[in-house]
Amino acid sequence: MAGNITFTMIKPDAVKNGHIGSILKMITDAGFRIVAMKFTRMSVAKASKFYDIHKERPFFGELVEFMTSGPIVAAVLEKENAVADFRKLIGATNPANAEEGSIRKLYATSMSENAVHGADSDENALREGGFHFATSEWFDKDGNCIG
Ligand code: RTP
Ligand code: MG
Repeated sequence: MAGNITFTMIKPDAVKNGHIGSILKMITDAGFRIVAMKFTRMSVAKASKFYDIHKERPFFGELVEFMTSGPIVAAVLEKENAVADFRKLIGATNPANAEEGSIRKLYATSMSENAVHGADSDENALREGGFHFATSEWFDKDGNCIG
């Protein structure tokens, strides 16, 4: 599956603002298949571990606080060229620079509250998917559990 997998989260701002349905529709309309999905709230410990790569960045504290401020939707997605195509669908990190029609252009409110997360490499997609889901929660296109 590596190469065709990405990992996403619908962030607390988009959940709070009622955009789960619209964002999932954009994702599935763009050709992504849901492999695993859950509605959950991360603890500070879990979010700190998830964002470990950003721990030296000045925005780390704010990022963890925001990502634990409410529930999120976490999902593993499958499509050819998943990581790059998904990053294109979500748009630039700062919604002010996000492309017209992208998820962040439509639903993000600021650089920090930017509606969605998208994995940035095949390796991170698998790491992040594995972080949120047991293999028993991943399903292939025939509906069979892959774990
Ligand atoms: P993401 O990981 O959420 O898909 O976002 P990204 O790759 O576009 O951006 P990244 O550099 O990985 O940053 C992760 C998240 O941290 C917040 N951030 N805030 N205030 C700031 O300057 C700042 N910079 C980044 C954003 O929520 C960003 O999505
Ligand atoms: Mg990132």
